[in-house]
Amino acid sequence: MTDLDRLIDLHGPALICDALRPLMTEQRLARIEQVLDARLTSLVTIVEDLYDPHNGAAAIRSTEALGLQDFHACEGVHRFAVNDGVTKGCHRWLDLHRWPALPPCADALRARGFKVYATAPDAPVDLDHIDVSAPIAVVFGNEHAGVSDAGFAACDGTVSIPMFGFTESFNLSVSVALVMSRLAARRREVLGRRGDLPDERRDRLRARWYGLGIRGAVGVIERHVSAGTRPVVAP
Ligand SMILES: C[S@@+](CC[C@H](N)C(=O)[O-])C[C@H]1O[C@@H](n2cnc3c(N)ncnc32)[C@H](O)[C@@H]1O
Repeated sequence: MTDLDRLIDLHGPALICDALRPLMTEQRLARIEQVLDARLTSLVTIVEDLYDPHNGAAAIRSTEALGLQDFHACEGVHRFAVNDGVTKGCHRWLDLHRWPALPPCADALRARGFKVYATAPDAPVDLDHIDVSAPIAVVFGNEHAGVSDAGFAACDGTVSIPMFGFTESFNLSVSVALVMSRLAARRREVLGRRGDLPDERRDRLRARWYGLGIRGAVGVIERHVSAGTRPVVAP
């Protein structure tokens, strides 16, 4: 947890926003509300045992750009590393969840009402034919081996991106962009709106995003808090 998140926990998002808002332009405030409006939490990306940090970073970047908030990295043999040069820092805007393996991640999401699908080039059901009426989590596998056997067993189904050429599979990060873009559009259509952030999470994210955009935000918040709590000295 970052210092900023700790301060949000301690003081609540409203106070953090009050402290930082005066330092932000109207355009920036409006942009943050626009992105919050479009944030989807009922579609999440999961990657399993990736070894190339560039692929992981590109997957994060596509996930964030599509307006999805949660990215789960399940670490089999390889530790998941974020390549800042490729994400351009965008991993800070979303929630990155690390797991030691796919099964506990899939179980936790299922317990929250998600259907968990593994992607595979030879899956008989394609992207346009899976049910998007409930929250969905999609698993992308290792660059060479694809999703592991234990990973497939932990999922509720499999899904493919149709292929029409001689090539037998897409690159991992290309797959993330293709699948999540299509499913995000389908999910938004079912919801009838662009985003689905619950109010409490929206308030916390707003506070975090204000803080991420301001150099020295932690100090600004601490000064704001101590100014507000300084005992009043009688004249
Ligand atoms: C390079 S592929 C791995 C190829 C591996 N031989 C296999 O059969 O899964 C890496 C990942 O990209 C995704 N992928 C690639 N092409 C796909 C397709 N046509 N449909 C669904 N997922 C695909 C899957 O998540 C896969 O695990």
